[in-house]
Amino acid sequence: MTKLSTTFATLAVLLPVVLGQAAEWGQCGGIGWSGATTCVSGTVCTVLNPYYSQCLPGSASSTPPTTTTGGSTPTSTAPASTATGLNKLAQAAGKKYFGSATDNPELTDTAYVAILSETSEFGQITPGNSMKWDATEPSRGTFTFTNGDVVASLAEGNGQLLRGHNCVWYNQLPSWVSGGTFTAADLTDVITTHCGTVVGHYKGHIYSWDVVNEPFNDDGTWRTDVFYNTLGTSYVQIALEAARAADPNAKLYINDYNIESTGAKSNAMLALAKSLLAAGAPLDGIGLQCHFIVGQVPTSLQTVMQQFTALGLEVAITELDIRMTLPATDALLAQQETDYENVVKACMNVEGCVGITVWDWTDKYSWVPGTFSGQGAACPWDENFNIKPAYNGIAAALA
Ligand code: G3I
Repeated sequence: MTKLSTTFATLAVLLPVVLGQAAEWGQCGGIGWSGATTCVSGTVCTVLNPYYSQCLPGSASSTPPTTTTGGSTPTSTAPASTATGLNKLAQAAGKKYFGSATDNPELTDTAYVAILSETSEFGQITPGNSMKWDATEPSRGTFTFTNGDVVASLAEGNGQLLRGHNCVWYNQLPSWVSGGTFTAADLTDVITTHCGTVVGHYKGHIYSWDVVNEPFNDDGTWRTDVFYNTLGTSYVQIALEAARAADPNAKLYINDYNIESTGAKSNAMLALAKSLLAAGAPLDGIGLQCHFIVGQVPTSLQTVMQQFTALGLEVAITELDIRMTLPATDALLAQQETDYENVVKACMNVEGCVGITVWDWTDKYSWVPGTFSGQGAACPWDENFNIKPAYNGIAAALA
């Protein structure tokens, strides 16, 4: 990965660094905060809640901003820990990280990058798109890592863990794969080459890989994509073995959604995990995506995580967001705070739940409105980078 340091050098100039003063959008106060308490010129340290003050653009006389509730009061109680920032709180609680997904187009937004780079908040990054098959091997045998390297360099420069996402998925496949006609031997070679090359490129730089993404339909049957149709269930082990050979130290995951409650789909994932482990396949973890709806967070999340950890696997919450029908109201945001708190508590209650990743931290760059018309406000920060009550729900659960 020779281009990584060069890429980081380029990115580094985007990040504001002023010794002794917090950068624009940076933290400048709050209970337990021991960093800078003054802000760079043109910004003012603004109390957002007792635990978090932020350098926001404006002068000292400017009115403190409110959250998207239009001024609703966070309801969380004081955390017992002295750590502040979600990643600091998570690590103080024994987790490996609290992290966020990101995507390359957002990295031109310097205010966004500055907050994403705050390791008190985020100790881990997942590239939302740039390590997927269509991005990395658009035609057979031709690999492009430019965008993935930018995200990897950002994480490495910040000292943040990196989750690789993903090797084998039915979606965002180039047409030479999705529409190809392969013998079993040929597709085995395609998968082995793809996973081996991509995982190998990032060898030593990745905490964990979503080697296989979303193998099941919601009723627990196998998704009938080119991989399953050609190789049956064996493609999963083929991909895992290629990944393990390419980077023996990366934790290898299968990642899916709607496996966060007990039922047909989580049972199917459990059965797959058991059969892979019995066959000696290199499987280390299960990713529970956790794309939820306000007021509808599954109550059996902790139980499901414990079912996987009972097999000796680790689990992670890999793509958390909790969407609502817009417009956001105080009541919806309060429910969202409770929902985020409950999700994070479930991870806290399971020792083998290693970390939590939000599928981007700000509503400005959430995937939700583009996919679910009329829905959004799914992230812990609003589109103006102000924290929402959801943030306090997460912090309360981690404390
Ligand atoms: O790259 C093209 C660009 O060339 C084109 O101009 C543009 C026009 O729409 O589209 C671009 O592709 C988009 C791609 O993101 C890259 O930005 C696709 O339209 C868009 O559908 C795609 O969405 C991604 C989605 O996965 C695809 O399924 C989201 O950004 C990404 O956040 C989302 O992430 C998934 C996880 O990988 C798996 N779990 C669910 C999660 C949310 O859907």
